[in-house]
Amino acid sequence: MDLKAGIHQVSDHFWYSEPMRYGSRPALAVYLAGDVLYRLDGGNSPQHREDFLNMLPEELLRLPRKLVLTHGHWDHSFGAEPGREEILVSPETAAWMSIPYYPSEYGKKYIAMEYGAPYGKADIPGFPAWDRLVCDRPGVECALVKKENGLIMEHGIAVPMDPPIREEIVPGLEAIRVSCDHHEGSLLLYCKEEKVLFVSDALYNGNLDWNAKKYYSSERFLRFTAFLDTLDVNLAILGHDAALTGQQFRERCARWNRAAELSRGITDENTMTEYYRDIHGEEPEECLMKELHWFLVGNRRERCVCQKNPDR
Ligand SMILES: [Fe+2]
Ligand SMILES: [Fe+2]
Repeated sequence: MDLKAGIHQVSDHFWYSEPMRYGSRPALAVYLAGDVLYRLDGGNSPQHREDFLNMLPEELLRLPRKLVLTHGHWDHSFGAEPGREEILVSPETAAWMSIPYYPSEYGKKYIAMEYGAPYGKADIPGFPAWDRLVCDRPGVECALVKKENGLIMEHGIAVPMDPPIREEIVPGLEAIRVSCDHHEGSLLLYCKEEKVLFVSDALYNGNLDWNAKKYYSSERFLRFTAFLDTLDVNLAILGHDAALTGQQFRERCARWNRAAELSRGITDENTMTEYYRDIHGEEPEECLMKELHWFLVGNRRERCVCQKNPDR
């Protein structure tokens, strides 16, 4: 099977590859800043990283490299190359990666596909030795991380960042640290000149168990998309979907914003259906109900967290 996705050159500074379903390979990109090559996300394995890099012009491969991880999930981080590249992450991602990680059945299935061996027997080279994540920028703070067993896992919800924290990592490349349901403290990477937004997974809903209960909180989603609206975007690169033009990206956000607006303050299906019927005189269509359901789950979850932590 050919695992190589095509590569797209956007400008003299920027290249990206489309995501691939096989083995859960997300979109990757590089930004050339002077004589340093910034990788945007690490890929899900050394093989994924190498397949991507080998599609770039040869002269880029000899340059010093830095890697910015948008978030810590395995499919974005297992292709990091500690030692060869300095790794930049947000503090939330560093914290997330500092404790053991036990993949779900879903994750294990894709790890086995990518590594050609069942999880537990799969050789994940380099990853267990990766004990140092570095960054010296205020928006993407310095973090020293020692992982147990070389593995990571998710833990609680951090305090939301509103507004997002923006920092130009290097001229032309901005890291924007956001609060979103998928992974707290995700970084969006924005190339101003090209008007390219490397969204990665930040727009995806969160996962309670990876298999069933996906969620967004209405308020958090609306804050997030209101911020996205302030960015001038010609191309949005998503972690696991085809890249979108600026227009398509705005339409996608608007569609989900509608569900977020409708579900504001609502946490159960009956109230949601009644409210919708009052406004429109009919039941919500099936696909809208599915989207509304994500928000109802997210709103329930958010309410739970707020009751436990009244200061939030
Ligand atoms: Fe993710
Ligand atoms: Fe992902």
